[in-house]
Amino acid sequence: MRVLGIETSCDETAVSIVEEGKKILSNVVSSQIDLHKCYGGVVPELACRRHVDLLLPVIKESLKQAGLSLQDIDLFAAARGPGLIGALMIGLNAAKSFSLALNKPFIGINHIEAHLYAAQMSSEKPIDLPALGLILSGGHSTLAIIKTLGEYEIIGETADDALGEAFDKCAKILGLSYPGGPIIEKLARSGKPLYPFKAGQVKENPLAFSFSGLKTAVLYTVQKIPEMNDSIKEDIAASFQHAAFTDVQTKVKKALQMHHLKNVLVGGGVINSQALKEYLKPFNVFYPSQALTLDNGAMIAGLAYHKFKGVSDPLSLPAIATLSLSASG
Ligand code: KG4
Ligand code: ZN
Repeated sequence: MRVLGIETSCDETAVSIVEEGKKILSNVVSSQIDLHKCYGGVVPELACRRHVDLLLPVIKESLKQAGLSLQDIDLFAAARGPGLIGALMIGLNAAKSFSLALNKPFIGINHIEAHLYAAQMSSEKPIDLPALGLILSGGHSTLAIIKTLGEYEIIGETADDALGEAFDKCAKILGLSYPGGPIIEKLARSGKPLYPFKAGQVKENPLAFSFSGLKTAVLYTVQKIPEMNDSIKEDIAASFQHAAFTDVQTKVKKALQMHHLKNVLVGGGVINSQALKEYLKPFNVFYPSQALTLDNGAMIAGLAYHKFKGVSDPLSLPAIATLSLSASG
């Protein structure tokens, strides 16, 4: 079965064709980073307009790279949430339109569940479940128990900013570009974690994240520095990154102990960080391949293969900006 997967939940217009849930025939990602850079974050209205312009060319390119035509596709899939509502609707409506026009089934996919599937898709052997799922992206910071494919229990979420968002905002405070994560990581390599920053704790749940206080601490520190220079920026970046990743490390350790789990499956843009890999070294971690870490259509198409039970989703299936992982079963 060949699935065409569309991903337009944020600022990547991405389309991939995947065979039997694993074999990637093409994986085209058109990033809008240049469009949003000068704003220090994604501007939803601009993202939507760009998705409209790019989606059909990206679908064409994806088919071309796979050496296929639309008639060769057996199932059309698209991310239906969570994400920017207007952006999601563009990909979802495209998948529905192809399904209707070509009389082929269509299925809506949970973007976060797809990030969790990315590590399984990249692994040669099946990974033993239950396992701990860790998603760290621009929109989400989630710890979940993956019971089986399609059955999840969220055990920790962010009470405020997502970790990637905190990296982006910290970069903005330091006058750096977007996306902030890779820039902070690079600066941090030359800096020392001299500033005593700490990530927040959530009283009701020891596994929940809170990064907005950390970001504010960076802001107050920067405001008090009379003359900023590169060396101070490097130390602030190192201190911020250290505080954030120490918190992730502590919570992963706690989650594994509390829920008697061994394997950790990770996903989302922040896991591109080489520095984070050091903090996760004590654990048995499964990473997605490089092409499947940032937003992409392959994880959508790959997961759709497993979720499709022979019946098309209705064309009335809505996009949901806040779609929960536990609702994805
Ligand atoms: O998963 P993703 O592509 O998009 C969302 O679904 O949000 O993640 C993008 C996020 C951005 O916030 C970016 O700053 C962060 O991932 N990121 C990083 C690194 N590379 C990307 N954060 C920290 N360190 C990195 N090396
Ligand atoms: Zn994502």
